[in-house]
Amino acid sequence: MARSKIIKGKDIPGLAEYISSDKCQNIVLMLGAGVSTSAGIPDFRSPETGLYANLARLKLPYPEAVFEINFFRKNPVPFYTLAHELYPGKFRPTITHSFIRLLERHRLLHTCFTQNIDTLERRAGVPDDKIIEAHGSFASQHCIDCRASYDDAEMERQILAKEIPKCTRCKGLVKPDIVFFGENLPDEFIKAIPNVAKADLLIIMGTSLTVHPFAGLAERAGASCPRVLINLDQVGNIGKRPNDIVLLDKCDEVVRKLCRELGWEDELMALWAQTEAKAAWDGEEPEAVSGATEEEATAEDLMGTITDAIGRQLNLED
Ligand code: OAD
Repeated sequence: MARSKIIKGKDIPGLAEYISSDKCQNIVLMLGAGVSTSAGIPDFRSPETGLYANLARLKLPYPEAVFEINFFRKNPVPFYTLAHELYPGKFRPTITHSFIRLLERHRLLHTCFTQNIDTLERRAGVPDDKIIEAHGSFASQHCIDCRASYDDAEMERQILAKEIPKCTRCKGLVKPDIVFFGENLPDEFIKAIPNVAKADLLIIMGTSLTVHPFAGLAERAGASCPRVLINLDQVGNIGKRPNDIVLLDKCDEVVRKLCRELGWEDELMALWAQTEAKAAWDGEEPEAVSGATEEEATAEDLMGTITDAIGRQLNLED
């Protein structure tokens, strides 16, 4: 007889009870930019603080052009200006990233699908084989013309020196293997899509669920699989199925409360503390460490730096 997967209460205690039960063995995650805003990294579509709202006042044809392959071909400067500011390594994982690590430690994490290119899941200690970077990452790069790969160290040096990398073979533009609008998603993503159907629990965090095909993963969860949305606002159609739970709050707040219910809070905070030590070993100052107001101010500051820098470059081109 098929086991019922109905969660009793559509709230944090009900979710904790389900996670503790033997019905919940495989958790699949879908992440978006909202899981990293408390690290000081702006998201894309929040009305005041999001990247696109801020880029809208610049002389770009449209804000998303910064991630559009045909625009990049004509003018790579806005993207590389952004890459310089958001280059991985500057930021500390959030409590939510440590929660993902904790799920893995408790042998509950099946797959962590992320749209983010900040690599904070890895930096929080989540094993590579559990992470699917659906929109690629800064880990590798290729010429957009002849597809030749480009040296990692040289790429990092040039991004940090605000230079535009050019192919050593054909002098074409080099681009990190992050997925731009108009490009295909990585093979690893396509291969991992069936993993969603194996989930006993799907948790969707910090995403507007507007970009496909990623957003469509939510529909691939089995009919009896509970889907949980943890986000500042209601997105997609989560809430329509009988087993859906919608928790509208900051991810860090929700996962902390959830871990308290599970008796995991100390373990969560100990794992998060390790991410601070890791940032210190790397010789980096974490951009934001605690306190929501302080963290949001940091994301806003960075947003100002990014838009000013891109605006200056666009005006220079004029
Ligand atoms: P969006 O900016 O579209 O959505 C972020 C969502 O997170 C919004 O619904 C916010 O309300 C929510 N949010 C922000 N801070 C939060 C917090 N602390 N706790 C909970 N929720 C929070 O970002 P994505 O959905 O990730 O693609 O965007 C998807 C893709 O669009 C990105 O991967 C990028 C972009 O264009 C490419 O660059 C290819």
